[in-house]
Amino acid sequence: MRHKVKLPNRASSPYLLLTNISQLLTLRGESAPRRGSALNAVGIIEDASVLCGGGKIVAVGRQREVLRDEWLRKNRSKIHELDCSGRVVLPGFIDCHTHPVFAEPRLIDFEKRISGASYEEIAAAGGGIRSSIAAVRAASRKELADKVLAALNAMLRQGTTTVEAKSGYGLSTESEIKSLEAIRDAANRWPGTVQSTLLAAHVVPPEFAGKADQYVEKVCDEIIPLAARRKLARYVDVFCERGAFTLEQSEKIFAAARRNGLGTRAHVCQFTSSRLAGLLAHHPASLDHMDCVGEEDVAALNGSDTVAVLLPGANYFLGHKDYPGARRLIDSGVAIALATDYNPGTSPTPSMAFVLSTACTHMRMSPAEAICAATMNAACALGLQAQKGTIEPGKDADLAVFDVRDYREIAYWFAWNRCAEMVAGGEVQSFAVDD
Ligand code: NIG
Ligand code: FE
Repeated sequence: MRHKVKLPNRASSPYLLLTNISQLLTLRGESAPRRGSALNAVGIIEDASVLCGGGKIVAVGRQREVLRDEWLRKNRSKIHELDCSGRVVLPGFIDCHTHPVFAEPRLIDFEKRISGASYEEIAAAGGGIRSSIAAVRAASRKELADKVLAALNAMLRQGTTTVEAKSGYGLSTESEIKSLEAIRDAANRWPGTVQSTLLAAHVVPPEFAGKADQYVEKVCDEIIPLAARRKLARYVDVFCERGAFTLEQSEKIFAAARRNGLGTRAHVCQFTSSRLAGLLAHHPASLDHMDCVGEEDVAALNGSDTVAVLLPGANYFLGHKDYPGARRLIDSGVAIALATDYNPGTSPTPSMAFVLSTACTHMRMSPAEAICAATMNAACALGLQAQKGTIEPGKDADLAVFDVRDYREIAYWFAWNRCAEMVAGGEVQSFAVDD
């Protein structure tokens, strides 16, 4: 097929040509979540080339066809070339669930779990999320922004170009707003794309112990409206779980988010099962974890546009024997995505490739399904499917070059960063030693 090169409007924009790609995973197809067998279709083009211009993808195809274009032939000398030397290129990963605004690792909890205590037992004894609050409240916005940026850079180096980032360890108006500002500051210094989420309803903070409903009121009437007014968040999240917030409280939080023009997403069914109808009525962008989702709710999810975001890094790090039931969800037609859940308590990893590997080895997803769940479907979970998630003309030029010959190796070489080059917004990223 001939790929006509259409020039973007910005005459001064730099052009980038990626050549000698052994396998280009385009993920081309509908701009909607891929379900069932469609999750396996990664749209491979062999011996491929991609032309980017003005931060967008301009042409995609077999190299000899892309290079035959008249405009390209005439302007080749003005175009920056990235020789991929037979490597694999795919859309930059979209990490659609992370908690990067924390100050310290949680090493005491880590050792307690090694000695046999469960995540919920540690949380009930005052550890867990609550033990991250004091350090975030004490930290300056700049200190937090530096931590967020360090995490974003670690993600970029491992193939990620878009990140959803949540607040959730400040749990006061001031510290939640400071956390969202830190995300915005870091995003402004990062070449990829960041979507912010307010997670003021992560747990009930200590000063509201025994007064959860009062805290929910404060979240609904004060923190959500302020974050929305200041345009610091696009989504509101809630941890709907035993020991955190009830379904009823979660639905109140969703309603407040929508009143304030924000989208919704929830942590739900991580440790215990909850009925999802009340949450689904608010059309959340995603429901995340979903380890314990019941049969009736699988059917309800299948009929919705809500994406189930599976987070196997948390199961790995908490030492769980069981993993989210990806096969059951995929085979029932539910739209699923994968993400790191980067956070200090349950999943301190920036690596989407590790998540893919875990999804393949422990959740019986194929490497192709895992890649689709980490790119196109993750874009859908963030409402970014028109701009991101596939390599097609008109989409954002966010690309990952992996030092492998076959895309299945991305999930095969676990705990090994094979990401060789990153392109974000049409520009090749170089990594300074100290960033
Ligand atoms: O997604 N489950 C709730 N939130 C995080 C854990 C946060 C923490 O322990 O710090 C999660 O697993
Ligand atoms: Fe999480």
